[in-house]
Amino acid sequence: MVAALLYFILLIIAYPHLTELHELMAKALVVSIITAFAVVLFYLVIGLFGRTARLPFTHVLVACFTIVISISPFRIILEKIFSAIYPESKDVFTSLYALDAKLEKERALLLEEMAPVFAHEIRNPLGSIKGAAQYLRSETDAGENKKLLDVIIEEVDRLNSVVSQFLDYAKPHTINLKAQDINVIIERAVSIIKANNVSGNITLEMDLNPKIRNLVVDGEQIIQVILNIAFNAIDAMPEGGMLRIRTSKARIAGETTEGVGILIQDTGKGIKKEDMKNIFKPFFTTKERGVGLGLAVCQRIIKNHGGYIRVKSIPGRGTIFYIRVGSVQQVKQL
Ligand SMILES: Nc1ncnc2c1ncn2[C@@H]1O[C@H](COP(=O)(O)OP(=O)(O)OP(=O)(O)O)[C@@H](O)[C@H]1O
Ligand SMILES: [Mg+2]
Repeated sequence: MVAALLYFILLIIAYPHLTELHELMAKALVVSIITAFAVVLFYLVIGLFGRTARLPFTHVLVACFTIVISISPFRIILEKIFSAIYPESKDVFTSLYALDAKLEKERALLLEEMAPVFAHEIRNPLGSIKGAAQYLRSETDAGENKKLLDVIIEEVDRLNSVVSQFLDYAKPHTINLKAQDINVIIERAVSIIKANNVSGNITLEMDLNPKIRNLVVDGEQIIQVILNIAFNAIDAMPEGGMLRIRTSKARIAGETTEGVGILIQDTGKGIKKEDMKNIFKPFFTTKERGVGLGLAVCQRIIKNHGGYIRVKSIPGRGTIFYIRVGSVQQVKQL
């Protein structure tokens, strides 16, 4: 038992970038620890009553292990029975998260209201500045002035794109659902990535599992998620490297149907430990010309689809983004 525990811990330390193995090991580790704890508790209770257990140790161990691994399915079955008898009990199960969700919804609504006003106030003067700069550029003959005016026009375009990204983040996300093949969605995203890999110094590796089933998702939004993550990966490999995209079958906790796991891995510079907690926050960026909304948008889309995103990164070696998504049962709006 101790040797197995040690083996799990060493595997997790040695292969922190293998997301699925890591997750499996972590689950096995938790089960082992709880089983060990239950065995100790059993002997303590027996000891308290002043008896010596006649049961063989292996029987106690197997009994505890069986109880521990049945807790999770048992809880789900209980929840289902409860919800069938008392439909209101669903609220009790979800009430713990309700306050959090309410606060997030209020914040989103505020942003949603402010964003168009803010965008309008910025875009109008930007349009005038660009128009004036373009007019002056066509009127001037001096090369130096032309260059300066080009800088103004370029920067105005960049600001416009920042405002567009902000609007994208803030606007309500209605989901356009359709049953579709995630592999086809990824292939579409990859053709856009290929077209943008201008320097061509990044090798693209695709490993798409043909056995994954169709999911009910918003294809355009999933493409946006893959592109945002892949472009970050490309940014992290200025000297070139490998970008790998893999799909696999995956199960979402608490759901009976099978979902899909999408793994996007790069061999870039990685993410510093202290930045990890911030990367999904809106406007967090370490790039000179970044906006910091790419991952915030991804997070929002995947949450809206009832899935999640996990990240593993080793500075200097690379990063793995792992997205898990299932079919959207009903349209959710933030
Ligand atoms: N694959 C990666 N490798 C290294 N750092 C990453 C990677 N992906 C994300 N990051 C870090 O997370 C930060 C936030 O990413 P995010 O996509 O939200 O914003 P951004 O890329 O800086 O700007 P933009 O809004 O233009 O996408 C990045 O600035 C970068 O520091
Ligand atoms: Mg980005």
